[in-house]
Amino acid sequence: MRVYIETYGCQMNEYDSLMMGTILKAQGYSITSTPEDADVLIVNTCSVREKPEHKVFSAAGRLRKFKEKNHGKLIVTGCTAQQIGEEFIKKMPYVDAVVGPHYTQQIDDILDEIDRTGKVVKTSFLNSPMERFRKKFSPSLIRGVSAYVTIMEGCDNFCTYCIVPYVRGREISRSHQDIIEDIRHLISEGIKDITLLGQNVNSYGRKDPDEWDFTRLLEEVANIPGVKRLRFITSHPKDMSDEIINLFKKYTNIVPYLHLPLQSASNRILKLMNRKYTVERYFNIVEKLREARPEIALTTDLIVGFPGETDKDFEETLKAVEKIRYDNFFSFKYSPRPFTKAAQFPDRVPPETAQKRLEILQSIQRKITLEKNREKTGTIQEVLVEGKSKKNPLEISGRTPCNRIVNFPGPTELRGKIVKVRITEAYQNSLRGELLKEKVIA
Ligand code: SAH
Ligand code: SF4
Ligand code: F3S
Repeated sequence: MRVYIETYGCQMNEYDSLMMGTILKAQGYSITSTPEDADVLIVNTCSVREKPEHKVFSAAGRLRKFKEKNHGKLIVTGCTAQQIGEEFIKKMPYVDAVVGPHYTQQIDDILDEIDRTGKVVKTSFLNSPMERFRKKFSPSLIRGVSAYVTIMEGCDNFCTYCIVPYVRGREISRSHQDIIEDIRHLISEGIKDITLLGQNVNSYGRKDPDEWDFTRLLEEVANIPGVKRLRFITSHPKDMSDEIINLFKKYTNIVPYLHLPLQSASNRILKLMNRKYTVERYFNIVEKLREARPEIALTTDLIVGFPGETDKDFEETLKAVEKIRYDNFFSFKYSPRPFTKAAQFPDRVPPETAQKRLEILQSIQRKITLEKNREKTGTIQEVLVEGKSKKNPLEISGRTPCNRIVNFPGPTELRGKIVKVRITEAYQNSLRGELLKEKVIA
């Protein structure tokens, strides 16, 4: 029996797909990357904006013929499954099961249930969602010598534009014992680079008085021998404490890189978004971070065209982007989502205006990103080698501590090693360099 899993959305979904794959492999399934020959077809969905939601319907439609030809099962999991629920089967009767994120670890039972009873819908939130993190089903996402380790998931922040709290449910944290054990294991397997993963990592452990807080967790992980590079996503600016900022100063293995979503730099819009910080507070955090680690690379998320956003509000965001000079960012046009407060807000911004704002923002950022990359020319960077370069098979490729891609001539045996590279050229999305002789650091 073969299973095919198509994954949309964030790393939470990638994690869930990996978990489902792991569970089904234990049941004797093999994983296939082609839907044509699959007996079980799973679409793991995202609904953060309208676009990914639409992709789900086209994916399910596209996979239908393979399900029918192979007399297999077609299952929709993840955030859009949670959002749409039973309606999904009404719209697409060839879908066999609709499974929200809290139930992905029950995928084996769900397959049996389809055999017994036909259609299955699992979308009520579990009372004890910690079940999701049952130890035996907590595989880590591994990419070469890097691994993503989930520490918490879900969200209690309710930003007014965001569907995540409604489809992922409330925040839950894994136990620190499990996290530490997983990381030690990964290190023993040769992993050097760890990313702690969660919708809102700074809230780690906050609900359980006996659990460590995020600062403690981060420090303990930084102290594990063999953790050469440590980063975490995503942080909420309202929870970015001085203690966490100080750890950037204290531990050089916490890499100088932080993704800190700003969303908007207009205080009026931030308030409407329920972000619970002002742009002044955000600037203050950036200042302290740069004091603690002058070379720190910052990235962010921005939304344009939030209801009520005027030209003046947008100019605030532009000014902030020019002031902070992010290394890069993700920017989105506001997309109204079901269940969210902002979907009811007046003063919708016309799509053409939002599109224009997006283009302005992105063209300014392209310029800044290129300038920042050029500033690296001539410097010597510690590069963690990932393998063959995608662009040129005669070269190898890796990342700087700030997460920039560097391509350079060198032997593929260096994969997994940290080497010193002199940067010779800078492009929009990558750097080029030359390997310094005898400079394998680790
Ligand atoms: N927990 C993370 C990720 C949230 S989703 C965080 O808080 O940063 C990733 C990004 O999608 C958000 O940061 C936001 O910029 C964007 N986003 C979320 N909902 C959106 C919506 N309705 N319209 C446009 N962008 C949205
Ligand atoms: Fe969504 Fe806000 Fe939670 Fe991020 S912090 S997941 S944007 S509600
Ligand atoms: Fe999408 Fe769900 Fe992640 S909505 S961004 S897959 S939490």
